[in-house]
Amino acid sequence: MSQHLDLNAGKTTARDQWERAAAGWDRHTPVIREWLRTATDSMLGMAGISPGSHVIDVAAGAGDQTLDIARRIGAEGSVLATDFSPTLVSLSRQRADAAGMTQVKTLVADGEHLPDGIGPFDAAVCRLGLMLFTDPLQGLREMHRVLRPGGGICTLVFSRPEKNPCVATLLRTAFEHAGLPPRDPFQPGGLLSLGRPGLIDQLFEQAGFKQVATTAIEAPFRLPSARHYLDFVRASASPIQQILSRLDAAAQERAWRDMEARLRAFDTAEGWAGPNELLLTAARR
Ligand SMILES: C[S@@+](CC[C@H](N)C(=O)[O-])C[C@H]1O[C@@H](n2cnc3c(N)ncnc32)[C@H](O)[C@@H]1O
Repeated sequence: MSQHLDLNAGKTTARDQWERAAAGWDRHTPVIREWLRTATDSMLGMAGISPGSHVIDVAAGAGDQTLDIARRIGAEGSVLATDFSPTLVSLSRQRADAAGMTQVKTLVADGEHLPDGIGPFDAAVCRLGLMLFTDPLQGLREMHRVLRPGGGICTLVFSRPEKNPCVATLLRTAFEHAGLPPRDPFQPGGLLSLGRPGLIDQLFEQAGFKQVATTAIEAPFRLPSARHYLDFVRASASPIQQILSRLDAAAQERAWRDMEARLRAFDTAEGWAGPNELLLTAARR
């Protein structure tokens, strides 16, 4: 019971932090879009999204990939963009309205407890969200529940720490400055939590999915400098902000400067290129 309460408290903190990071995440949409362009196209294809599909987009954030889905499905389809942050959901609503995409519906919903009465959907996607769930297996069970039999799913998460040295550096530096011991990177809810080889396939199968297959893809983050990457992280990377939130402003500033210095290791002659490896996991209900 007390563990249940702790998990809920952790989730409330995470949601509040995403509420605070929402404007920053939204503002960085062009940068995120460019970074994830290939991965997003693959994710939509692997989920089997096509004209007329009815799709659920879980942990949709500010709705960038939701609009890609909307374009793919056309006016005959529908996409329900869900997220537990009301601010992010309202930003995705505004983005869809500005694009005149009436096939986009939005809903504030915890991905681990989707409401009854939605679906069944032809496809479900979750771009860089599932690894942040307190209980990713429960999130997958929920996506399984709302899909029609034979429906497709594809999720995108970070792979293991060695393949994501920038994220690993951010986490390590944040923990050091916060005076916390290094944390097991595969602990549930962390940015790299689903990167342990084989883990995500296992969770998909436990949730009841069939034909589970994971593909690793390179997704380097290319920006003019390490400072640009840090600007993105400071404004929008809620999990890092959450670790630093226990420090006063001056101590936080020292942590950010230290991160930037370490991340200059990825300077190249053509600017800054931070390596990332992502896992696309596709399956059928
Ligand atoms: C890294 S952002 C990705 C947003 C979006 N999918 C994208 O790729 O632009 C992670 C998102 O997961 C959402 N999130 C985290 N845990 C969640 C949960 N349990 N239920 C619903 N959304 C959640 C956050 O609010 C945030 O929007």
